[in-house]
Amino acid sequence: MRSSEEGVVNLDKLTYAGNLHNLASVQGDARHVFVQGDIGDSALVQRLLAEHQPRAVLNFAAESHVDRSIHGPEDFIQTNVVGTFRLLEAVRHYWQALPAIEKEAFRFLHVSTDEVYGTLAPDAPAFTEEHTCEPNSPYSASKAASDHLVRAWHHTYGLPVLTTNCSNNYGPYHFPEKLIPLMIVNALAGKSLPIYGDGRQVRDWLYVTDHCSAIRRVLEAGRLGETYNVGGWNEKPNIDIVNTVCGLLDELRPRADGQSYRAQIAYVKDRPGHDRRYAIDARKIERELAWKPAETFDTGIRKTVQWYLEHADWVANVQTGAYRDWVQTQYQSQAESPST
Ligand code: DAU
Repeated sequence: MRSSEEGVVNLDKLTYAGNLHNLASVQGDARHVFVQGDIGDSALVQRLLAEHQPRAVLNFAAESHVDRSIHGPEDFIQTNVVGTFRLLEAVRHYWQALPAIEKEAFRFLHVSTDEVYGTLAPDAPAFTEEHTCEPNSPYSASKAASDHLVRAWHHTYGLPVLTTNCSNNYGPYHFPEKLIPLMIVNALAGKSLPIYGDGRQVRDWLYVTDHCSAIRRVLEAGRLGETYNVGGWNEKPNIDIVNTVCGLLDELRPRADGQSYRAQIAYVKDRPGHDRRYAIDARKIERELAWKPAETFDTGIRKTVQWYLEHADWVANVQTGAYRDWVQTQYQSQAESPST
């Protein structure tokens, strides 16, 4: 167990989805140091490593939105591939120069995604860590490339790495470009709820604090060089997710006209190359590290909807001009509905 006094240096580029308001709860806490910058800025990362001498580096940094990667893949290659490469190199040099005891204890934890495994047939078994890597979108290809780099830095240089591949996160502070927050925000604004294709694509949903506890556990006790799948055991078709969100809003913030928010559902053109199904087999992390999610989907989605209802200011704050431009670009090109 680490001391509760241990500090965290938070390096974040603060691109469109980053927001200092998300860090309000740690403002003024001496254990938290915020630095605005890029993992691809080698000089900056080297300086931070030398100054703060961390016992671990956790790589959460990524361009993460599939639709954006389809419109403009370049940033994904830059941050996810080149950025991870530069970060690995800076960390390798730092780690190699550590005294023996610190060197032994050091960890590099890379946070990745189940999307690197590709798509599953409806009746296929869920992704295990042995599943072949078959990414289908520019985003997932860039994450798969970064996973490969991390693996290679372990095998070639002996860097003490750990990799986690998680399913779809949801919960508070989720940027409203992703399915669940977009649906809540659009529903409350009286806008349409755009369902891609037939809405029968399946994702596994992981509440964000469960993801955090899994990362802590892997960092604490994961076996070096290993990959751990992290999932919520909540496989659900998108249309069921949207119906659940509408049902909760009907209960907690009914529409003035007495109709259900479901009336706002609109089927739109499908995402190109849309993966049909992701499912995580999270038995390895349970078996080896005794980790299990604490939230069910019912408890997690209720907390999430409540959080958005109570944080209208946060929502308004993140809906900048850049956000509005994105919504316009994405949903105008998808406006034509298929015959579903
Ligand atoms: O599986 C883990 C991944 O989950 C993460 O690695 C990604 O960073 C994260 O964005 C997420 O990827 P998805 O593409 O599954 O998430 P997204 O929220 O964009 O979409 C979830 C599903 O909902 C997907 O099948 C597409 C569909 N969808 C999404 C949006 C934004 C819609 O039908 N309508 C929408 O407006």
